[in-house]
Amino acid sequence: MLDRKVTELLNTQVNQEFYSAYLYLDFANYYEEQGLSGFSNWYRVQAQEERDHAMLFIQYLQNNGEHVSLEAVAKPDQTFSDNTAPLKAGLAHERYVTGLIHTIYDAAYSARDFRTMQFLDWFVKEQGEEEKNAEDLIKKMELFGADSKGLYLFDQELAARTYAAPSLVL
Ligand code: FEO
Repeated sequence: MLDRKVTELLNTQVNQEFYSAYLYLDFANYYEEQGLSGFSNWYRVQAQEERDHAMLFIQYLQNNGEHVSLEAVAKPDQTFSDNTAPLKAGLAHERYVTGLIHTIYDAAYSARDFRTMQFLDWFVKEQGEEEKNAEDLIKKMELFGADSKGLYLFDQELAARTYAAPSLVL
C-alpha cells in the first residue's frame, strides 16, 4: 500500500502519459498531411513510448495493490502555423511532464516512500532524454528546415526511427 497522495498523483500520471501519446499521434497526423512521413514516423514511435510509460505507471500501481482509475483522455486541440510549431509544442510538453514527475517525486520524498522514488528515478532520467531529443529536433529544423533538400534529408533521418521497448522492467 502506498501513500494516498502519491497514489493519487501516480493515477493522474497514467492519464497524462496517455494524453502524451494522443498528443504525439496528433503531431504524427499533422506531419503525414504535410507529406513529411519521416516526422510522422518519429512521432508515431514517440506515441508508442508514451503508451509504454502509461502502462508502467499502471503496472507499478497494481504491483503495490493500488486501484487504477482510468479517466477520459483530453482532446489535442492545437493547430500549427508551420512545421516547426509541433516541435516547439513537443518541447514545452516534455518540460511540463518533467514538472509532473518531479511533483510525484517530491510527494514520495515527503512520505519517505523510497520504493516510489526508486521507480521514478527511471522517469527522471527519461525526461532528461526526452527534453534533449525535443531540443535537438528544433535545432536541426532551424538549421536545415528552410532548405527543401535539407528538409527532405532530415525527414529521411526521422523515418529511420524504430520502436524499442522501455528499458525499465517491473
Ligand atoms: Fe512520458 Fe514524453 O514523457
